[in-house]
Amino acid sequence: MTDRPDQRRQFASDNYAGVCPEAWAALQKANRGHVRGYGDDEWTAQAADLIRDLFETKCEVFFVFNGTAANSLSLASLCQSYHSILCHEFAHVERDECGAPEFFSNGTKVLLVPGDNGKIDPAAIETMVKRRTDVHYPKPRAVSVTQATELGTVYSVEELKAIWGKCKKLGLHLHMDGARFANAVASLGVAPKEITWQAGVDVLCFGGTKNGTAVGDAVVFFNPALAKEFDFRCKQAGQLASKMRFLSAPWVGMLQDGVWLRHAAHANKMAEYLERALRGVPEATILFPRQANSVFVELPTPVIEKMWERGWMFYNFIGKGGCRLMCAWDTVESDVDEFVADLKTAVSR
Ligand SMILES: Cc1ncc(COP(=O)(O)O)c(C=O)c1O
Repeated sequence: MTDRPDQRRQFASDNYAGVCPEAWAALQKANRGHVRGYGDDEWTAQAADLIRDLFETKCEVFFVFNGTAANSLSLASLCQSYHSILCHEFAHVERDECGAPEFFSNGTKVLLVPGDNGKIDPAAIETMVKRRTDVHYPKPRAVSVTQATELGTVYSVEELKAIWGKCKKLGLHLHMDGARFANAVASLGVAPKEITWQAGVDVLCFGGTKNGTAVGDAVVFFNPALAKEFDFRCKQAGQLASKMRFLSAPWVGMLQDGVWLRHAAHANKMAEYLERALRGVPEATILFPRQANSVFVELPTPVIEKMWERGWMFYNFIGKGGCRLMCAWDTVESDVDEFVADLKTAVSR
C-alpha cells in the first residue's frame, strides 16, 4: 500500500475499490466500432445468457445503472401504490435509498420488520401482515431481504426457505437485494439457484459494482410475469442506458471463468483475516457474526478519531452503529496489517 492516504485502499466501502481487470478488459473489448444501442446488442445478449446459465433457469434480465434503481424499480413492479413492502429495519431499501422504492412505486409504504443480526424474523412477517387486514392499512404485498445483509451476515438456505414459507402462506412476493449477492454465494458455498429461485425469490437485484464493475447492476426476474413492461419502467426512470454495452460487457468479463465468485471469495477472506487481527486488540469488540466481506467493530470514540486523523476512512453509523470495515476484491493482507498496526498505536496512546 502507498503511504499517501489519498491513494490508500480503504475499508469504508467495497464501492471505494476500482474496476477489476476482467471488467476493465471487457469494457475495452466492447469499445470497438459501432454497436446497436439500448440493449439491442450482442454484449447485452451474452451477459443475459451467462446470467441464465449461472442460475440454471430461464429468467428475464435487465441492466440498470445502480442498486437503488434496481431495488426500487423491481419493488415497484411487485406492488400497487396501496400495497406495502416488508423489509428489515436496517434494510438499504428503507434507510439508504432516499425513499426511491416509495417514489417509483407511487407511494407503496415500506414497513419495518425486526430480526437479529440484520435478518428478518419470519414470525415477524406474519405478525406484520396479520396485525391489520382492514382497508385503512397498506396491504402487505412483498418481502425484501438483503443477501448478504447490511450487517455483513448471510441468510442460510433454511432461513430463506422459512421466509418463503411465510410469503407463500400470506400471498407475498419475495425480492432480494443482492448488492453483495456474490459475497453471500461465496460464503455459503452453494449454487446461486439454491438461494434464489429454489428458495422462492421472485426477483433478484444482482450487484456488480461492489464485486468489481464500474457501474451497472442486473435485475433478474425468476418470475417472468412480474417482468412485464419492466423495460418501460426502466426507460421512464432514466435507467435505460443508450450505450448499454458498457453496462453489460463488464458482466461478461465477470461471469466468464467464475471471476465474480473468485473476487467475492477473496473479499470475504480478507474480512476473515481482518476479523482475526481485530480479535487481538482488546479495545475492539466484534459486533455481529462475520459471514461476508465486512466486519463491524465497536471502538472507543477517541480511537476512531485518531484513525480518521491517520487518514483511514470508514463509517460508524451503518446499521446499529459501530464501525463498518469492508473489504473489496482488491484488498490485500498488508492493507489489513497496516490498519491494525495503526489501530494498536491509537489504542496505546
Ligand atoms: C445493501 C445495499 N443495497 C443496495 C446498494 C446499492 O446502492 P447504489 O444505488 O449506491 O448502487 C447498496 C450500496 O451501498 C447496499 O449496500
